[in-house]
Amino acid sequence: MATPRAQWSGRLGFVLAAAGSAIGLGNLWKFPYITLENQGGAFVLVYLAAIAVVGAPIMAAEIILGRRSRRNPVGAFGLLSEGKPGGRAWKGVGYLGVVAGFVILSYYSMIAGWTIRYILLAFSGSLGELAHSPESLEAFFGSFLANPGAQVLFHTLFMGATVAVVFFGVGRGIERAAKLLMPILFVILMILAVYSITTPGFGRALSFLFRPNFADLSASSVLEALGHSFFTLSLGLGSMLTYGSYMRRRDSIPRSTLTICALDTLIAIMACLIMFSIIFSFDFEVSKSSTILFTTIPVIFFKLPGGAVICGLFYLLVSFAALSSTISILEVVASFAIDELGWHRRRAAVTTGVAIWLFGILSALSVGGVQTLSSFNPIGRPSTLGVFGTLDYLASNWFLPVGGLFIALFTGWILTREETRDELEEGNGRLGWSFGIWRFMLRFAAPAAVGAIIVSVLLGAEYQ
Ligand code: PFF
Repeated sequence: MATPRAQWSGRLGFVLAAAGSAIGLGNLWKFPYITLENQGGAFVLVYLAAIAVVGAPIMAAEIILGRRSRRNPVGAFGLLSEGKPGGRAWKGVGYLGVVAGFVILSYYSMIAGWTIRYILLAFSGSLGELAHSPESLEAFFGSFLANPGAQVLFHTLFMGATVAVVFFGVGRGIERAAKLLMPILFVILMILAVYSITTPGFGRALSFLFRPNFADLSASSVLEALGHSFFTLSLGLGSMLTYGSYMRRRDSIPRSTLTICALDTLIAIMACLIMFSIIFSFDFEVSKSSTILFTTIPVIFFKLPGGAVICGLFYLLVSFAALSSTISILEVVASFAIDELGWHRRRAAVTTGVAIWLFGILSALSVGGVQTLSSFNPIGRPSTLGVFGTLDYLASNWFLPVGGLFIALFTGWILTREETRDELEEGNGRLGWSFGIWRFMLRFAAPAAVGAIIVSVLLGAEYQ
């Protein structure tokens, strides 16, 4: 390759960028609502186990593939599979990742755009009036969703911000954004966490999250926890692989992986503590949990002193978290165009960004009430209704787990023991028994767990 590959300036740059990818709507929007739906305690425990047994080992595997090849997902599989069983067919896993990135970003950006609307509402003061009653806010949210112009506008703003960062590249764009956004995100979260401790519902939130009752646990909750561990850690489509391809050889993959997983988990748990403390403080009846972030949360914030500021900060937090995730998804697609098609970074960022933005308009219009798009349902189940519902189902239930399965199989079975050991020990020092545990998880535990998700989806279950 003509120019040497860009690199993070150091371990901190990599860890913050990768944690930024992992921490996103998955932590602040999805995890709280699926935890509520699955009755807390036992579900949280299974989720923690899924992160440790499946998520962390696969994250290390992705980073290994990236750093060893110094390529995008397609190039990485192409290079590392040379002379190995299966040969270049493994490139298919890379292509699946690029397609998954394209699809996920197209609708993720729409949802992320909603947070911009709410930041504006909160700081302009109008959220206070709407949040007087759950009914008025639900009515507002419903009409906001059904407004195609608004959906396209906020999707456009969010994609624009994402493209702008990727345009400037690894050091001046992504790393700089991560170093700015992540500390602000941690500070806002700390303020909100301290605030939530003072609310009367804090004790109940703690016991809801940490006192497991295994009678509440069903097979589908276990699968949901497993599936979510993929999404929340950005696994299966090559985001961690791509970020790993910019990692310096003298930095440690095991230590970085553990830090990223710990930060992601911590933030997911803190988000639950914050939201549940205030929900439980008022004994609020949560009607439809998937929209609590946009309907219930503001109503309760505004019952508390300083509600407007706290609420504005909260949506700022969510949008920053979402932005550091959308950047990492666009980078997968852009780095594919740069490495494989030979495009210049700026052209790659803008062209792939515009293509994804255009495709995302279909989702935006499908929630925005355009009949043909909102009733589009080739899969034929109630939950896959509309373009947005269909794409989300395909990506979360199929693309990510299948991608993750092949990443685990390739790294565990096709790369040799020495190859993976060298890469993990490079910049880290000798690993000892923990290497054996990691390799066992990757070869057996992770494929078995992900295989279970895939079989259950085949049998008709969903963990969305
Ligand atoms: N991990 C992100 C979240 O929790 O919101 C979502 C995500 C980012 C998924 C990047 C996949 C990905 F490659």
